[in-house]
Amino acid sequence: MNEKPDQKLRRPRVPGPAQYVLPELPYAYDALEPHIDAETMQLHHDVHHRGYTNAANRSLAALHDANEAGDYTAVKSLSRDLAFNLSGHVLHSIFWPNMAPAGEGAEPSAALSDQFRLDFGGLERFKAHFGAAAMSVEGSGWAVLAWAPRGQRLLVLQVEKHQNLTVQDVTPLLVLDVWEHAYYLKYRHRRDEYVRNWWHVVNWNDVSQRYGVARGHDSMEPRSEVLPEVTGAAAKRATDDES
Ligand SMILES: [Fe+2]
Repeated sequence: MNEKPDQKLRRPRVPGPAQYVLPELPYAYDALEPHIDAETMQLHHDVHHRGYTNAANRSLAALHDANEAGDYTAVKSLSRDLAFNLSGHVLHSIFWPNMAPAGEGAEPSAALSDQFRLDFGGLERFKAHFGAAAMSVEGSGWAVLAWAPRGQRLLVLQVEKHQNLTVQDVTPLLVLDVWEHAYYLKYRHRRDEYVRNWWHVVNWNDVSQRYGVARGHDSMEPRSEVLPEVTGAAAKRATDDES
């Protein structure tokens, strides 16, 4: 079942990042006992997930202010912070409703069962595969069951840590290859020149189409609402607008 995006989702009155909100647990802290203890659930949700959510909002606000100021010197570190914290927020937001008290989790739907059969040879084979992926993640991380729309199939993935400079909740719209094979013959070490010139060949029709399709997707994670207070340069501009 897919939910429509939250009707509360609106952009702030002045340009600025929408704010991510810590979702409430859909059950009591002790609801998953004895398999997952109440204290773990409380710390995990109230401390760890809250930390990701708040820091993701701070990272977005800082990036927004940097953009307003035209000062991109901190983009690298802020992008790293955003990837770490927003991926943490998104994955935990999926993790909580992915669980239910023992006996209440039902069975996979007929459609999902068919897909498991197609892609893994059945539910039990999928569970073995997923379990092996979870057991062998190097260091901290996640096992993820994902739908791959181009291949029209399910994939089991390992996510090491969860940031590695990407956010686990996005649809790519515009990508630029900065591996050396993409520019070294012509530009040698001058990646900056390649990046600047690349804008001449961007196909905005294609990007716009992708944006339209992405906006048409249903979302299971409607966790944003109006930014209660706009920070930095945007706040100053809003004040100026009012005066
Ligand atoms: Fe966690």
